[in-house]
Amino acid sequence: DEARLQGRFQERVDAEEKIEPRDWMPEGYRRTLVRQISQHAHSEIVGMLPEGNWVTRAPTLRRKVALLAKVQDEGGHGLYLYSAAETLGVSRDELVGQLLAGKAKYSSIFNYPTPTWADIGAIGWLVDGAAIMNQVPLCRCSYGPYARAMVRICREESFHQRQGYELMLALAQGTPEQKRMAQDALNRWWWPSLMMFGPSDEQSAHSSQNMAWKIKRFSNDELRQRFVDATVPQAEFLGLTIPDPELRFNAGTGHYEFGAIDWTEFNEILKGNGPCNRERIEARRKAWDDGAWVREAAVAHAAKRQQCALK
Ligand code: ACO
Repeated sequence: DEARLQGRFQERVDAEEKIEPRDWMPEGYRRTLVRQISQHAHSEIVGMLPEGNWVTRAPTLRRKVALLAKVQDEGGHGLYLYSAAETLGVSRDELVGQLLAGKAKYSSIFNYPTPTWADIGAIGWLVDGAAIMNQVPLCRCSYGPYARAMVRICREESFHQRQGYELMLALAQGTPEQKRMAQDALNRWWWPSLMMFGPSDEQSAHSSQNMAWKIKRFSNDELRQRFVDATVPQAEFLGLTIPDPELRFNAGTGHYEFGAIDWTEFNEILKGNGPCNRERIEARRKAWDDGAWVREAAVAHAAKRQQCALK
């Protein structure tokens, strides 16, 4: 019977039908979705921190408005994604508990510091650029609630990427010192952005099953290559240099070839040993504790309203 259900499920996936929360699904499908969606939600929430660092120090009112809006969007993305995960039978409290206990993964990229204003440009351009490359195909994910959440998220990410690129352009066309800042930020964010796509295809534990289930549409290496191909000409337009001496265009394949990624650095970050891992979790714990009174008040308010409704 299980085999028949599995077969029917795969037929639906192959026919591009969306799988909805009440539909039968293999336990592994549910588990991998909870894993991926919750990691994605945590990434959005932790991702507010490196940029939040600059909200009070944005150089102009216009830049501050854009940065505030972007950081708020990320908070919103985290909330949609926790809701999408909840449709799979896990609670948001449980997921947040795993994050605060240091047991949950979130994107490696958010464990790097943002020492200069140019980092805000580099994050928008490269980090959000990489996020879009990875997330646009997720709009066609087989699981309905995740796919639908991704549509709005991708529209907002696209605005984030443009604000970052425009910021980099202003710096790259500014004073020599501003251009140096932009180059320095590119030097620091380039390789970590390539790592965002995850381990190489041979090392990726979940890829083949998740592609068969149409959660993933492209492999980690395919998306990484697309990102490099799209981004190198953008760097050229800025007049900045990608920090990779092995980078070259292969006219035969139509793709850029690039140097080897330092997977030791990636693995260390995943183990919690990146430059900011501890600081990020500390900041989330403090935010959770400081927000306790809001949660308590909301629960008390809901209970009161329910009592009124019963009367
Ligand atoms: N940072 C941290 N962990 C990572 C990263 C990364 N950049 N890339 C891969 N991993 C982890 C995986 O989560 C997995 O860990 P687990 O088995 O303990 O859960 C392990 O490394 C092996 O990787 P894969 O087998 O390749 O995992 P998967 O098929 O899930 O692919 C990917 C990873 C591409 C990140 C996928 O989960 C995905 O598309 N997620 C949704 C997008 C997302 O989370 N983006 C977050 C950053 S963008 C932003 O927030 C602005």
